[in-house]
Amino acid sequence: MPKQVAFFDVVKRRRSVRDFLPEPVPIEVLQSIVAAGLEAPSGCNAQFRQYIIVTDPAVMARLGEISPALKTAPAAIVQLIEPKATRYGEFYLQDAAASIENMLLAAVALGYAGCWVEGQVRQSYEAVCKMLGVPAEVNVSAIVPIGKPVEIPERPAKPTLADVTHYNRFGGKGLR
Ligand SMILES: Cc1cc2nc3c(=O)[nH]c(=O)nc-3n(C[C@H](O)[C@H](O)[C@H](O)COP(=O)(O)O)c2cc1C
Repeated sequence: MPKQVAFFDVVKRRRSVRDFLPEPVPIEVLQSIVAAGLEAPSGCNAQFRQYIIVTDPAVMARLGEISPALKTAPAAIVQLIEPKATRYGEFYLQDAAASIENMLLAAVALGYAGCWVEGQVRQSYEAVCKMLGVPAEVNVSAIVPIGKPVEIPERPAKPTLADVTHYNRFGGKGLR
């Protein structure tokens, strides 16, 4: 195996953090995280993503009402996506997901933490759009709280590599 690079430490350290210290997040950090999202792959390079950086405590307090993961966060990135098709079909959900993961990893690389909040956004979808002034033709795909974690949660149960990996064909057990 070649020597592991820091990237894999970031991947392993990333956890969904829902409890944050109150210290503010510098705007440069938030912009760097958004820039990482923007670097993510995009089907047909359609680039239908936009972002709202939220640092206003009044707006954060209102976001906190839609998810416990947003309650203590000093900042958040709201990811927007235009639900448009490319000439090869619709890829906007995939574009949105790729960007969110890039942002979560970027946050960890910069010493912060986040959480992919999408389920609870769906539960309060109309209220979220109204509170952020999001126009009807743009979807809110997820909100990522950003801050310093109070603690890094324990790694939840996940399958092992052996549980989910096949070699050369479905059910293939080894490389020969
Ligand atoms: C599509 C998607 C939606 C999610 N929605 C929420 C959510 O609404 N609220 C929340 O607290 N966590 C949400 N999560 C975070 C998951 O609960 C979390 O990733 C999972 O429990 C695994 O933990 P880990 O991220 O620490 O590995 C979501 C994750 C994904 C991928």
